[in-house]
Amino acid sequence: MDTKEFTFIKLTHESYVATIQLNRPEVLNALNFQLMEEVIAALDMLEDDPETRCVVLTGNERAFAAGADIKEMANADAIAMLTRDQFARWDRIRRFKKPLIAAVSGYCLGGGNELAMLCDMIVASETAQFGQPEINIGVIPGAGGTQRLTRAVGKAVAMEVILAGRMLTAREALQFGLVNRVVPVEAYLQEAQRLAGTIAEKGPIAAQLAKEAILKVFDTALQEGLLVERKNFYLLFGTEDQKEGMNAFVEKRKPEFKGR
Ligand code: CAA
Repeated sequence: MDTKEFTFIKLTHESYVATIQLNRPEVLNALNFQLMEEVIAALDMLEDDPETRCVVLTGNERAFAAGADIKEMANADAIAMLTRDQFARWDRIRRFKKPLIAAVSGYCLGGGNELAMLCDMIVASETAQFGQPEINIGVIPGAGGTQRLTRAVGKAVAMEVILAGRMLTAREALQFGLVNRVVPVEAYLQEAQRLAGTIAEKGPIAAQLAKEAILKVFDTALQEGLLVERKNFYLLFGTEDQKEGMNAFVEKRKPEFKGR
């Protein structure tokens, strides 16, 4: 795989699981323009890499990310923000085809929380804190927070988080359905990588098509989502992995998926 040099992220790889680590620890991984471009470039590479079946996105123990970089946008005017339209670039993450898991510890705020919510699952450490504190600095979420948080936790909690700037503890985030699980801080990254490893053992085409179908829930009416699901189900019968998976079941052995 291409060993491109990154400044603000680190990319590692172990048996079908790639891990992208946000790496601006001195500013709590504030998401500046370049860091996000690097995340997108890494995802572009990983999408084409047959050795990657699942990706973990993480920060460090103190912060997943404390939001978009406030210093980078503090003095921008409305027209500059509108023409730069930096958050439109984040749609690329939403379109990433392979399963993407956020491993979150510490601050997960503003654009950081929006980035975590762009992932398909979130594994949190006990110390994780989730919030959309933009209201405290005179703005509102701009990278999907009003929509994705509301869909994840419901209207009442989303209103409180976004309008009152209230942070959610990891346990609350679990209770409200924002995260998949909460584990001790020493284990959050390993746990996310373990979950990624479990997914990576499945047929990769099936995992991608399932992801596509699940995400349809959020941006289409039910009927349209059902049609995508059905089409993807039938389509999988054109893969070797479907034959291998079903035959292995019948023959009572473990399947060997090849991504074909
Ligand atoms: N942007 C730029 N720099 C940031 C930052 C951010 N979002 N968050 C933290 N930093 C920097 C601080 O400026 C500080 O840098 P210096 O040492 O150079 O002063 C460094 O990171 C450490 O931060 P603190 O000293 O503030 O650490 P703390 O432990 O006292 O507080 C915190 C932690 C409560 C998370 C606090 O840093 C904070 O409130 N950060 C901002 C959170 C925020 O408002 N996020 C939303 C941003 S807007 C957005 O994301 C829009 C969107 O929808 C996409």
